[in-house]
Amino acid sequence: MLEDYRKPTLEKERALLVGLFGPGTPRWLAEEYLNELSMLSETAGAKTVDKELQNRPHPDPTTYIGKGKLHQLKQQVAEKNADILIFDDELSATQIRNIEKATKVKVLDRSGLILDIFASRAKTAAAKTQVELAQLQYLLPRLTRFWTHLSRQKGGIGTKGPGETQIETDRRLIGKRIATLKEKLDKLDTQRSTQRKGREDSVRVALVGYTNAGKSTLMNELTDTDVLAEDKLFATLDSTVRRLELENHEVLLSDTVGFIRKLPHHLIESFKSALDEVRDADILLHVIDASGKMVEDYIEVVQSTLEELGMSNRQTILVFNKIDLLEPEKLIDLKKQYPEALFVSAHRSLGIGKLQSKLESLIEEDYVNFNYVLPLSHYKAVAYLHENAIIEEEQFEGNQVQIKGSASTKHRDRFEAMLTEIEPSIEIERVS
Ligand code: GTP
Repeated sequence: MLEDYRKPTLEKERALLVGLFGPGTPRWLAEEYLNELSMLSETAGAKTVDKELQNRPHPDPTTYIGKGKLHQLKQQVAEKNADILIFDDELSATQIRNIEKATKVKVLDRSGLILDIFASRAKTAAAKTQVELAQLQYLLPRLTRFWTHLSRQKGGIGTKGPGETQIETDRRLIGKRIATLKEKLDKLDTQRSTQRKGREDSVRVALVGYTNAGKSTLMNELTDTDVLAEDKLFATLDSTVRRLELENHEVLLSDTVGFIRKLPHHLIESFKSALDEVRDADILLHVIDASGKMVEDYIEVVQSTLEELGMSNRQTILVFNKIDLLEPEKLIDLKKQYPEALFVSAHRSLGIGKLQSKLESLIEEDYVNFNYVLPLSHYKAVAYLHENAIIEEEQFEGNQVQIKGSASTKHRDRFEAMLTEIEPSIEIERVS
């Protein structure tokens, strides 16, 4: 029964969007937020018929916009023939109930909308399970809302969540489903970590960024493959890993779900395992849409999401993408503001060579020289070095081999652990 809520929305609903501005959020920024909300609601299948911004320092605890404004909103709903109100914030159960009661249309908040999009995007078993879990956890404290009389008959966005029938809104049932989903995710996690083990030795690079920044396009450009890249928010929900051949190194490049402002906490929690590809990464390529109006916001949102995931301490390259869409002055300003960053256009293949060399030099920063003298019987360990290090010189003498070269500290350590395993009493002499 609960499966039903993942069906795609067919009907174009008429959405009226509502947001606040005030001391902390200037009007122009609140307008940009509403533009982004409009993109989100269109992604979910609705048509934006109007946008309403209210000047208010804090949301009203019972109606979000205040009683007087709610009355006005009711008229606006009638004038625009809107059938859904979407708020650019997370609403409480009480706020949703009061607004629905006053306006007689369905009310959805930003989190509910994002969850709805994720639900229709999820393709694999893992993504579907993660989204369903996040949806149920989001719904549980909101079970008091008038799902039944307002949304059951019509369907549409925001109703793909559980709650369309009495039985689905039953707390006990949802609690049980949550437990089953968690178990399913644990199993999927075990499978995934086994798959990852096989790739442990490679240098791992992950693309991260705000949704629609161009991560998948850059992945395609770098690896010459065909990952889905669309002008849609959250086109990618599952992680993709591809081999990337640089001049001297081969790395594993992963692309994963994009981030966004106010990404529901439950989604981050439930996507943590999908984001393991990112968490395992040695280097992050933080991709930013340079043509966007909220560049600083994009960067901050991504950085704070990485912090929430406990991985803000990785080596990171800032990559400003879509420079083909920039006025030359804006490009000069950005370069001044972010002197360490790289500037590319994945679409037009601009700056890709520089990005590859930067990656290469970052990988080599971690390289250490080695000079080992080993018995020939340790051929397995020697083969490991051949596969994972740069060998500069190799000389055989009697039953010994002297090898000089360089490797990442990770590979050097694994190699030495391998030697100790073969011969516990071995004394490793590192001659630099
Ligand atoms: P999510 O899946 O939402 O996380 O998006 P993403 O970061 O993977 O972005 P994606 O690669 O899907 O690109 C989003 C849109 O931007 C697509 O329409 C791309 O064609 C477009 N795009 C990507 N790179 C460039 C670029 O360098 N220039 C221009 N003009 N458009 C680009």
